[in-house]
Amino acid sequence: MITPLIIANWKMAIDKNGVEAFKADWNSRPPMTGVDVVVAPPAPYLSVVSGLTGVSLCGQTVSENDMGAHTGEIAAAMLSDVGCQYVIVGHSERRQHQGETNAIVAQKAKRAQLAGLTPVVCVGEPSHIRAAGKAASYVRDQVLSSCDDLSDGLVIAYEPVWAIGSGEAASADVASSMHLDIKTALADRYADLRVIYGGSVKPDNCAAFTTAEGVDGLLVGGASLSAESFWNICAAAIGAE
Ligand code: PGA
Repeated sequence: MITPLIIANWKMAIDKNGVEAFKADWNSRPPMTGVDVVVAPPAPYLSVVSGLTGVSLCGQTVSENDMGAHTGEIAAAMLSDVGCQYVIVGHSERRQHQGETNAIVAQKAKRAQLAGLTPVVCVGEPSHIRAAGKAASYVRDQVLSSCDDLSDGLVIAYEPVWAIGSGEAASADVASSMHLDIKTALADRYADLRVIYGGSVKPDNCAAFTTAEGVDGLLVGGASLSAESFWNICAAAIGAE
């Protein structure tokens, strides 16, 4: 059985006091076993988060370039140097606001793997694509173009754009069917692949996803900012709640 992977994406939504408060609360709780717990803090707080018990570190993005003259960017090797094991690439907020194309996302994922990081490649359709009945083919194209020329050992996060931060999660059936399609699309390329769901995951709906066929874990935004809520989501993933 695949170990569930639960990733907290804190985006740019927490300050140092918030990180310290999360850490004190999280570290006072029983350690999690049987689940891979990962936190992606804002980059300046990576060193603060490295003290979280039983938690692996994740970057929120990475440069598609190697080290050099790229002001403001973070190289994959640097994330690796400060203890990251994972990095999110191609989150829909970056695709939308920073103009990240599938080709750029593929380059970022490649850089991540070359530095020994596991890329978490985000894909997902906007609402008008779903309304037009084209979600499956849109996501399939995104997945195939964003995961070009990679090695084994990657994570795909299926995050429908309309579900992110909206309070309107996809149904477990919608997620399951998309996850199975993603696995089919990549079956002849990668054997070591986990597909996780993101988009308005909360403590009260998370079990529906983690028990759904094809769903190997979760990418959690808003509900990961509180240690209690994130701990409850991780506990639900292993049926310990
Ligand atoms: P959300 O964000 O859980 O707040 O919807 C998920 C994400 O953007 O990764």
